[in-house]
Amino acid sequence: MATRIRDLTSQAGQEATVQGWLVSLRKGGKIRFLVLRDGSGTVQAVVREGEVPPEVWRESGELAQEASLVISGLVRPDQRAPGGVELVVRNMAVVANGADYPITPKEHGVDFLMDHRHLWLRSSRQEAILRIRSQIELFLQTELARLGFVRVDSPILTPSACEGTTTLFETAYFEDKAYLSQSGQLYNEAAAAALGRVYCFGPTFRAEKSKTRRHLMEFWMLEPEMAFASLEDVMDVEERLISALVRHLLAESASDLATLERNPEALAQAAAGDFPRISYEEALAVAAGAGHQVAWGDDFGSPEETAIAAAFDRPVFVHRYPTAAKAFYMQPDPERPEVCLSVDLLAPEGYGEIAGGGQRIHDLELLRRRLQEQGLPEEDYRWYLDLRRWGTQPHAGFGLGIERTLSWLCGLEHVRETIPFPRLLTRLYP
Ligand code: 4AD
Ligand code: MG
Repeated sequence: MATRIRDLTSQAGQEATVQGWLVSLRKGGKIRFLVLRDGSGTVQAVVREGEVPPEVWRESGELAQEASLVISGLVRPDQRAPGGVELVVRNMAVVANGADYPITPKEHGVDFLMDHRHLWLRSSRQEAILRIRSQIELFLQTELARLGFVRVDSPILTPSACEGTTTLFETAYFEDKAYLSQSGQLYNEAAAAALGRVYCFGPTFRAEKSKTRRHLMEFWMLEPEMAFASLEDVMDVEERLISALVRHLLAESASDLATLERNPEALAQAAAGDFPRISYEEALAVAAGAGHQVAWGDDFGSPEETAIAAAFDRPVFVHRYPTAAKAFYMQPDPERPEVCLSVDLLAPEGYGEIAGGGQRIHDLELLRRRLQEQGLPEEDYRWYLDLRRWGTQPHAGFGLGIERTLSWLCGLEHVRETIPFPRLLTRLYP
């Protein structure tokens, strides 16, 4: 096996072989500098005429951007080089040369880049985002496992809605029809009654005709669910997970964050935890103070969310939204049934809601009434009602949107860069 570029430092003074793609080629008279990337890092390979076989010298002058190469040579310490080493080339095999790679170091428009998303992924910026995404997914799951949560995968083809019937993607299911899952929550509730603490993690779908920097048609959601749990438990777990995640990234993904020019200072407060917890009504007042009048009962739009979050130096919980504005399963507050035991977590800097959840209705009759009020056929939710017939208990959970979270943590302008192949209102290609 060849050495991965990030491991070259440990081979200083020795011979090594690396395989990767050409980022750039700079030519002098008898010397050529090839910058090679392999996904783990980049290294400069130096080719000198006379020190390599003549055909290698010739070929090294004809390489195009993104040529795939196998290069062997001496690993030479060099203080100025990224990674601290460069490669003095002894030999090189051109696996494939190319020509006219569409993405050049010059500026390209967003549409052009999105049309070439399959190639754009190779840029250092996209690499950094994808690595951080992987870190987030791995860390959150490890942390949940540590807290005793068991991963239980939920179905994607489902017979009924979780988050309202207006955003369902419908698909044929032989003679019948099915919907792409909007959320694994309802199935999580069944699994939580089996295992106590569970989570699901997978793609979720919303046929929402929104063309904003926060909306995708297909996004990934991490959804923990806990039996015998309350709204407060949800906020405790969210705060713990998010603050630990931020600390983890600041420590483990510092160089990727630097590639994205994300100032770690912007995340320092979130790392400290202790997220403020305000009610919907308090949030209304904060929004009004910032010049955004919202009538009691209405949901916040993105300008209001931005204004509310701006009043705090770290993510803020907004709990107890009007019951009528939320999904059928939300537990009304026993003290004030017009509001429910729901909670949204708003990220700073205008990134808006990154997680939503709360306490679920555990009373059978109340749940039936809510289904009826929202015009949802009880027949479709037979199994879900069963969970209230046997062993029902107050339980709670939430869903964390990976893309919005990543967008905030990386300081990105738009969620389109947070997922390898975004599905947007007007884009299904590539
Ligand atoms: O608030 P939502 O709709 O909550 C639920 O689906 C619950 N059933 C989750 C649960 O309690 N288990 O979605 C949760 C999160 C949002 O806060 C947001 O981060 C993300 O999912 N999200 C989207 N992300 C990108 N594009 C969209 N269209 C999104 N819709 C929701
Ligand atoms: Mg929500």
